[in-house]
Amino acid sequence: MSLYRKHRPMALRTFMGNDATVATLTGLLDKPSRPHFLMFTGPTGCGKTTLARIVAKELKCSAVDLQELNVADFRGIDTSRDIIARARLLPVGGDVKVWIFNECHMLTKEAQNALLVVLEDTPAHVYFLFTTTDPQKLIPAIRNRATALGVTLLKDDAITTLLERVCKRERVTNLSDTLKGLIVEYSLGSPRMALILLEKAIGAEEGTGEEGIKQIIQERAEAIKLCRALLKKEPWGRVAIILKNLDEDPERIRRAVIGYMRSTLLGSKKENSQAFLIADIFARAPFYELGRDALILACYEAVYG
Ligand SMILES: Nc1ncnc2c1ncn2[C@@H]1O[C@H](COP(=O)(O)OP(=O)(O)OP(=O)(O)O)[C@@H](O)[C@H]1O
Ligand SMILES: [Mg+2]
Repeated sequence: MSLYRKHRPMALRTFMGNDATVATLTGLLDKPSRPHFLMFTGPTGCGKTTLARIVAKELKCSAVDLQELNVADFRGIDTSRDIIARARLLPVGGDVKVWIFNECHMLTKEAQNALLVVLEDTPAHVYFLFTTTDPQKLIPAIRNRATALGVTLLKDDAITTLLERVCKRERVTNLSDTLKGLIVEYSLGSPRMALILLEKAIGAEEGTGEEGIKQIIQERAEAIKLCRALLKKEPWGRVAIILKNLDEDPERIRRAVIGYMRSTLLGSKKENSQAFLIADIFARAPFYELGRDALILACYEAVYG
C-alpha cells in the first residue's frame, strides 16, 4: 500500500493544519441540528476525501451504509435517481447513511439538477459529503445549499512534521535534513505529494547516495506535475511550460508517466480512458533516440489525441 494511503488520518485529531476548518467542523458535528450537506473544497491532495471519511466515522456510519462515489462512478441522471431512491431506505447498520461524492463538479448539469430534490429535502438519516477542487463548476442551486468547508495546502513546517511523523512510524531514521527540505520544497504544501516523494526517497536502492535521491525526488515531482496536466487535458500552453522546466532524461520521464498512469488505472474502479490513452502513447517505444522530441510529441498527442 502506498504511504499516503497507509497514513491517511482517521480522526480529526491527526488531521494536520486547517485549524479553522477543523474547529468549524467540530462545532457543526456537535450541534443537535447538524447540516446534512457538507462540501469540502480546496486543491488536490490536501485532505478533502480524508475529511469526508472522518466525518462519516464521526457520524458513526457503518460500512454498509457508506457509499463513496468517484467521477467514474457517475452515470449522469441515472446515478442521481438511484441515490434518491436509496436515500429513502433506512440504514441497516446504524442510524445514518452517508454518501461521499468525490469531484462532484464532474456531475452533468442534469444530474446535479436531479439531485437537488434530495439535497433540498434530505431524509433525517442521510448525509451528503461532497468534495471538489472546482466548486464554481457546480450549479449555483447546489453550491448555495451546501455548508462549504475549505481545505488548504499545508505550511512548510506542517509538511515537515508530517514527514517526521511518518518516518518515525515507518522506522526510517536516515533521511537527511537536506532531503527532507527538498521534499517539503517540491510538495508545494500538498501532504499527498510529500508522502509520494517520501516513498520514492525511502524506496531508493541502497547506495544511491544523497545526490541520487535528490535527483529521484526532483524527477518524480516534475513528472507528477506533467502527468496531472495530461490527465486533465490542460491547455497546451500549460503543458508546454511544464515541459520547458523539465530537463530530466526523457526516457526516465517516459517510464515515470507510464508508472503514474498504471497506478491511476489500478486505483480506480471504473474506466479511465485518458489514463489508458496516455499509457498507450508513452508505452509505444522508448525515447532513447528521439529524446525530448519524442517526449514533446507524446505529450501533444496525449492532449489532443
Ligand atoms: N491535512 C492532512 N493531514 C495529514 N495528511 C493528509 C492531510 N491531507 C491529506 N493528507 C494525506 O494526503 C492523502 C491524500 O488526501 P486526500 O485524498 O484526502 O486529498 P483530496 O483533497 O481528496 O485530493 P483530491 O482532490 O485529489 O481528491 C491522504 O491519504 C493523506 O495521507
Ligand atoms: Mg479526494
